Amino acid sequence: MPNGATPQTDREGLQGSPRHVAIIMDGNGRWAAARGLPRAEGHRRGVEALRKVVRAAHELGISYLTIFSFSAENWSRPASEIGDLFGLLRRFIRHDLAALHADGVRVRVIGEREGLESDICALLTEAEDLTRNNTRLTLVVAFNYGSRQEIAAAAQRLAREVAEGKRDPSSITADVLGSYLDAPDIPDPDLIIRTSGEQRLSNFLMWQAAYSELVFVPIHWPDFDKAALEDAIAEYATRERRFGGLIAKTGS
Ligand code: FPP
Repeated sequence: MPNGATPQTDREGLQGSPRHVAIIMDGNGRWAAARGLPRAEGHRRGVEALRKVVRAAHELGISYLTIFSFSAENWSRPASEIGDLFGLLRRFIRHDLAALHADGVRVRVIGEREGLESDICALLTEAEDLTRNNTRLTLVVAFNYGSRQEIAAAAQRLAREVAEGKRDPSSITADVLGSYLDAPDIPDPDLIIRTSGEQRLSNFLMWQAAYSELVFVPIHWPDFDKAALEDAIAEYATRERRFGGLIAKTGS
């Protein structure tokens, strides 16, 4: 099974709790527009929802929570909105890092660091370094992240090894390519949630999502809370995951 995705099925093939939940936090702009507020206010309320959901995740026994906080494609937004999103990340790390650390949260960051402002890079590194040994919940922040870019970067590294004579092309299996992605030690997501009703992955964890269950929630991200997370997990629990195989029948 790639990247350690261990199916936690019961004997009928239904799910226990997801070990890794990944979230596309969509709908901040629409949440704000519906209230006549600036988009920045939607993002600010989005960070408040994020704080609640991180707390809920460890209360619900989730081990890994991945959040899509800035996509490689978000650079096409107006500079002022990009500035707002970067400001929120700065504030989130400066204000919340100590509390996350105290709660036993390990922070990991995936995505391209090159080209980011040096203070942002320093904050991301500080968050990872401070929390490195925490074990209660791993919070994976996808920042300046795009799945195609991640896979292309892995392919480039492998191609370089081949060109330097360090690797035979026939050694490049799916497991090897997977091990060159940004966080190969993190198991694949069991459950991917997207809020706001859109039903697509938008370049998020496309390699890792091969066998993830997808749950699309009609509410906008600022309104997402512990109850909504519990509902998504309940939906996940009804799914049968076969990983390309067959469900073991009771008694067989
Ligand atoms: C989608 O809403 C959300 C984003 C592009 C960014 C998500 C960011 C946050 C929740 C806050 C920042 C995160 C951290 C870790 C500080 P949208 O703007 O695409 O909404 P719309 O589709 O309704 O316009």
